[in-house]
Amino acid sequence: MSDHNSGDATRRDFLYIATGAAGVAAVGGIVWPLVSQMGPNEREKAAGAPIEVNIGDIEEGRVITVTWRGNKYFIRHLTADEVEAAGAKEQSDFRDFVAAADRITGPEGGDAVWSVYGANCTHLGCIPTEVKENGDTWNCPCHGSRFDVTGRVTKGPAPVNLPQPPMVFASEETLIIGTDKAGA
Ligand code: FES
Repeated sequence: MSDHNSGDATRRDFLYIATGAAGVAAVGGIVWPLVSQMGPNEREKAAGAPIEVNIGDIEEGRVITVTWRGNKYFIRHLTADEVEAAGAKEQSDFRDFVAAADRITGPEGGDAVWSVYGANCTHLGCIPTEVKENGDTWNCPCHGSRFDVTGRVTKGPAPVNLPQPPMVFASEETLIIGTDKAGA
């Protein structure tokens, strides 16, 4: 499943980039004059602005990659088995233990089946690839750190878990990364 998912993630990533690029191209003539008139503080704010992600098409077991503030983040739609397996792990399985429930979330009134975390290894910043071995989900190709399905480090030199960004669900289909305040 991992290779298949990675391929889909790559294609989805490409679609996101392509869609975003098309959108930027379409409105570029309108937006650029506005951006160019922004002061440094306004430009800085726009660069760090929250991003809205349509998660409605991400099937269970799939992951996509998005970019916020120049950093990549994984958005995983967990299966029921993955949620259960993550919750069943022991504290001793982890270097930087956090309960799985604290790293799995969902929209108000919806299922807690989403896990969102940084895609850069907390050792030296490489991007882990999917693997399914010994309960691990991610393998960092650089020095072998491993992470579970919620981004918690299980072994290797990475000192801490993959970081979770501030985020909030605007609806069952829309996740906003970059703020934890609804309507912000
Ligand atoms: S950068 Fe990931 S293990 Fe070194």
